[in-house]
Amino acid sequence: MSLTRLHIDTFRNISSAQLSLGEGINLIYGPNGSGKTSLLEAIYFLGMGRSFRSHLSQRVIQYNEEQLTLFAQLSSNEQQDKIGLRRLKNGDIQVKINGENIKRLSVLADTLPIQVITPESFSLLFEGPKSRRQFIDWGAFHTDPHFYQAWSNVRRILKQRNQLLKNNSPYYTLQVWDKELVKYAQLVTEIRSQYIDSLNEQLKGIIEEFLPRIEVKVSFTRGWDSKTEYAGLLEAQYQRDLSIGYTISGPHKADLRLRVGNVPVQDALSRGQLKLLVCALRIAQGKLLKQQTNKSSIYLVDDLPSELDAQHRKLLLQQLSDTGAQVFVTAIEPAAIVDSLTTAVSKMFHVEHGCVTQIE
Ligand SMILES: Nc1ncnc2c1ncn2[C@@H]1O[C@H](COP(=O)(O)OP(=O)(O)OP(=O)(O)O)[C@@H](O)[C@H]1O
Ligand SMILES: [Mg+2]
Repeated sequence: MSLTRLHIDTFRNISSAQLSLGEGINLIYGPNGSGKTSLLEAIYFLGMGRSFRSHLSQRVIQYNEEQLTLFAQLSSNEQQDKIGLRRLKNGDIQVKINGENIKRLSVLADTLPIQVITPESFSLLFEGPKSRRQFIDWGAFHTDPHFYQAWSNVRRILKQRNQLLKNNSPYYTLQVWDKELVKYAQLVTEIRSQYIDSLNEQLKGIIEEFLPRIEVKVSFTRGWDSKTEYAGLLEAQYQRDLSIGYTISGPHKADLRLRVGNVPVQDALSRGQLKLLVCALRIAQGKLLKQQTNKSSIYLVDDLPSELDAQHRKLLLQQLSDTGAQVFVTAIEPAAIVDSLTTAVSKMFHVEHGCVTQIE
């Protein structure tokens, strides 16, 4: 699966661009502030309905404009799909797939699985558990059709439950919610846990290449004590939950633990190695998706040369190529990428002051 065409209108400093894209590696280069990251961000926005840089979606609309529009043609197994997205300053978002209005953004995400690798990516390892949960759930969502609904149910029930706790409600009023919560929490946990098991299998080979002789252990923590049954725990923790007006334990607290021996990876690896580890995690996700669903991810790799030496740049590009996915990489100088490639670049684009030109 790959994007064959991309039209961008009034997105950040890109006023208008109509691009014909290649399978394999698309190289985007240009000076600082030219619009390279904006181009990747536009592709991400089309797949996710939001940015990877700012949580305020209206920030990506070009200054003094009222809306942005994105359009892409998607080709997969002889099937052509057209995706259009319009985002207005007032917050409205309109999405069409093949001319049909789409209400849920999850349909968009399902159509266009996107992986992002940026210089900030390794904050995945440092930040709070939310980003790691999102990492797990990207895979859970794409590989198990039951995950989305089960996880939506968990969040909906937790909201209700927390409201009851805030209102000082007695335990018996929570019991009916807890029964439902336990059911969906178990399903969510099972899917996540199985996903991480499969991911570990994929990850082994990639880590051997990226970080030879370093044994990285990735384990899943489900969000409550592994020896305790969730239903009993909810009851036992009722008084504590009540005192803070919030459900302390559950799948909303799940996390990934990454260690070298017994040491957290942040304390055991260098910055470059951490970056490689995050790349390995994302590549493993793409490979697993392909294996389990035959769907390809689209990789957006921003500022690839930063903090990686020539040998590791080469390795990373090789691994990305091996996934068979369409890849968009940015760099200030094209040589930094071209010299690290064993295959030819599919298409090359030069960006300057928001103007994107294809280089033959
Ligand atoms: N909403 C917006 N409207 C117009 N221009 C914007 C908007 N938001 C950001 N910009 C400008 O867009 C330009 C391009 O930014 P972008 O981050 O894409 O550059 P870049 O090519 O990735 O640069 P670098 O090599 O430094 O990472 C910047 O000069 C920025 O000031
Ligand atoms: Mg940039």
